[in-house]
Parts: sequence; C-alpha cells; structure tokens
Amino acid sequence: MKNSYTKPNLDTKYFDDLFNSLPSMDNKTVAITGTTSGLGFYAAESVAKLGAKVLLLNRPSTRAESSLNLLRQNCANGNFHRVDCDLQSFDSVKTAFPKINEICSDGLDVLCNNAGVMALKDKATIDGFDVQMQTNHLSHFLLTKLCMPLLEKASQLRDEARIVNHSSIARFQTKRLKEKFLEKKGGNLGGDGGNLMFGGGRWERYAQTKLANAAFTACLHEKLQKNNPKIRAMVAHPGLAESDLQSTTVEDGGMGSFFTKYLMKFGQSEKDGTLGLLRCIADPKINSGSMVGPGLKGMKGKAKSFSLESFYDNPEVKSMLWAKSCEAIGESFEI
Ligand SMILES: NC(=O)c1ccc[n+]([C@@H]2O[C@H](COP(=O)([O-])OP(=O)(O)OC[C@H]3O[C@@H](n4cnc5c(N)ncnc54)[C@H](OP(=O)(O)O)[C@@H]3O)[C@@H](O)[C@H]2O)c1
Repeated sequence: MKNSYTKPNLDTKYFDDLFNSLPSMDNKTVAITGTTSGLGFYAAESVAKLGAKVLLLNRPSTRAESSLNLLRQNCANGNFHRVDCDLQSFDSVKTAFPKINEICSDGLDVLCNNAGVMALKDKATIDGFDVQMQTNHLSHFLLTKLCMPLLEKASQLRDEARIVNHSSIARFQTKRLKEKFLEKKGGNLGGDGGNLMFGGGRWERYAQTKLANAAFTACLHEKLQKNNPKIRAMVAHPGLAESDLQSTTVEDGGMGSFFTKYLMKFGQSEKDGTLGLLRCIADPKINSGSMVGPGLKGMKGKAKSFSLESFYDNPEVKSMLWAKSCEAIGESFEI
C-alpha cells in the first residue's frame, strides 16, 4: 500500500440481533457479486449459515481464493460456488453466465448486485466506459438481464425471487443522473481531481454510479410490478461502514489516509454495514420498491425500510437510465 490507512476497527452492535431474526434459506440459491471483503463477504457468510447455496461472483485473484477459504472455515457446512466474473468487462460477465446457469438449475432466488469501487481515477474499461460506472452499474445491468430467466424460474417454483442492488448516501452528492456518465467516455469524465471526500471528478463519478444503482431499482420495481410481481426489486445502503472500499480509494489517491481514519470513526463496522443488504436478501417484511439503510441519509445504526425517492424514481430519469444502459451493453432488456 502506498498510504498507511488502517481501519479503526469499530464495534459491531446490531448484526447478531438482525441475523437471529432471519428465516432459514434452505433450498434457496443466492448469487452475490464482490464477496472478497467487506459487506459482500459478510452477506455471503450469513446467507450460507441460513442454509442457502451461494454463488460467489468475483474477479479471479488471491483475494478471491483466500476469502473463499475463510468462508469455508467460518461456515463448514456452507454450499459455496466460485464463479469468475470481472465487472470491468462485459465479455467476462457473459462468460460467467453458463456456469451460473448450470449451478442454478432450480432457479436463482436472489441476485445481489453488491460489488463496487469508489472514487477511482478517470479510467476507461476495456469496453470504453468509466471504470466506476461499468463496475458498479453497467455490468450489474447486464448480469441482471442474463439472470432474469433464472429469477423467473425461482419465483414460479418458490413463489418469490429478489434483485438487490447496493447504493450509498453518495446518491445525494450529485444533482441529477447525467447521460454522459453512461456513455463510452471513460477517461474523459472529469479527471483525477478530488482527494477530499465529496468534491472533484472522482466523487462526481462515484455519486453518479450510486444514483444509477437506486434508479435501476426503481426501473426494475416498476417493470416487475406490471409483469412479474413475484420478483421484488430493492436497494440497500450501508451508511458509512469500514471495509476495503476506503482502503482501495486511499491507495488510488482519492482520499487521504489521515482524513479517512478520522472520518471512519463516525461510521460502523463491516458487519453492521451488512444489515441493509441482509434485510433485502432475506427479510420477508421488505417489499419491492424499498430502500433499506440506517435512515435515508444515516451513517450508522439499524437498517430500516423507506420508499424510493422521487429525484430518481421518476419517468424521465428511469427511461433515460434504461435506454442508456441498453445502449451500453448493446442489447435490449425486456421484462
Ligand atoms: N463501505 C461503505 O461505507 C459503503 C458505503 C456506501 C456504499 N457502499 C457500497 O457497498 C458495496 C460493497 O463495498 P464494500 O464497502 O464492501 O467494499 P469492499 O470491501 O472494497 O468490497 C468491494 C467488493 O467489490 C469487488 N469488486 C471490485 N471491482 C470488481 C470487479 N471489477 N469485478 C468484480 N468484483 C469487483 C471487490 O473485489 P476485488 O477483491 O476483486 O477488488 C470486493 O469484493 C459497494 O457497491 C459500495 O459502493 C459501501
């Protein structure tokens, strides 16, 4: 690491109570992106302990290997399946799908689009899109399209399936979703400025991706309610949770290590940051069209359910996001 940021190691306060309140997930299959660390790791461990078969969708790395070993250690009876899937490449997502299809022969009960990167340099992916937008939203859009028949199958067999996206309070840090961030303009979207939180091109691009995650949920909710209400669409936000997200940003020059360590004292542990995701994945009380987190703008605490917000849940933003996302993946997506 170039910077010397170390996590403050915050206490976990609410996780056990929530986990103990969740029903069994026996006979269910859950696919989660980004389980090598942070919130995805604890979501994967938790649903495995609840009895689900778990697909771990990660880019190949030593982190992917060692996190799988740790999951197997923490959950000896866990039914884990590793699937290579690099969200910086549409080809990688497409290549992952046949394996997902094979593992999910009885359908997919939950697709959890969790993986993300934050405030990285202004770089293009191999497909030409902003590295943050493709990782955080566009590849998840493609993955959701590919997995839709599996979600439909689970919803028919077991009466319900779920799509869970992962947003952030950063969704408030940009005024509106802009088309250019969803276009093949990677590397030309505001530069590398902004090494304090909430300013400069890096943070504008991150905020756009997290707004896209929320708006995508609003689109899915509307379309699924009309055509297959057995599939619920919901979105979590974790407040401010200490994970490797901040470490990666510090390493890339998007946050200073001293400031980050100070800021994270106002946050919560990784496990408590997983509460919103877990409620969306497994809590029967969470309805389609919900935003689940520690308050709409909250940084820590128990995860509660709220309605989606009108600044992205409106016809103009929804139709723009859907059209630009289809254009980006080069395919239509009918529900
Ligand atoms: N922590 C917070 O305070 C916070 C706040 C708001 C929102 N969130 C959201 O929570 C989600 C999870 O983040 P986290 O906090 O748990 O951070 P994290 O510990 O850094 O985990 C991020 C995960 O995403 C994966 N990932 C990154 N790029 C990928 C790619 N190209 N292909 C596949 N996987 C990739 C990482 O895997 P690698 O090992 O391959 O890098 C890692 O498993 C993100 O969507 C983030 O925006 C977090």
